[in-house]
Amino acid sequence: MSINIGLSEKERQGVVDILNNVLADAYLLLIKTKKYHWDVIGPQFRTLHQLWEEHYEALTISIDAIAERVRMLNGYPLGTAAAFIKHASIKEHSGDLPSAQEMVQRLVVDHEQVIRNVRGYIEQTSEEFKDEGTADFLTGLMQEHEEMAWMLRSFLDGEAFESSGKRDKELVSKGSKR
Ligand SMILES: [Fe+2]
Repeated sequence: MSINIGLSEKERQGVVDILNNVLADAYLLLIKTKKYHWDVIGPQFRTLHQLWEEHYEALTISIDAIAERVRMLNGYPLGTAAAFIKHASIKEHSGDLPSAQEMVQRLVVDHEQVIRNVRGYIEQTSEEFKDEGTADFLTGLMQEHEEMAWMLRSFLDGEAFESSGKRDKELVSKGSKR
C-alpha cells in the first residue's frame, strides 16, 4: 500500500537514505564496541568490559529503532554486512589488538564522527526534506552518542590526569574551600 503522510516521494526517499546511512554507522560501531568488550585487557578491564556491554545494549536498541523508522517511512532498512560497510562512514581496524587506551580513543573518534554526521542530517531532514518527525528522532539519537562519547572521553581525561597527578591536587584544593 502507498504512503500518504505529507512528504513528497523525493523527501521521503531522502530521509530513508539518511536513516540507512545512520544505521550502517551504528552497526559498525556496535561490532567495534563488542569486539573491544571481548579483547580489552589491563587494570581498567572490568570498567571498560562492563561499559562496553552497556553501550552495546544501548546501540542494539537504537539500531532497531532506526531500522523500524525506515519501515514507518515505507522504506527498507539495509540488512547485510556488505551494505553496512558500503554505507558506513566510520572505518574498521581489521586484525589488530590495540591497548585499552587506543580502543577508547578510537571509539571517541567514531562516536564524534556519528555526532557530526547526524547534526548535519538533522538540519537536512528538517530544512530540505521537511520531516520534523525524523529530525526529532535523530536529535534523540545524537544525544545518546553524545553521552557515550562523554563517558569514553572522561576515561581518557582521567588517564591523563592520573599520570600527571594534576587532578588530585586540583580536587583537594577545591574540596578544602567548600
Ligand atoms: Fe559479554
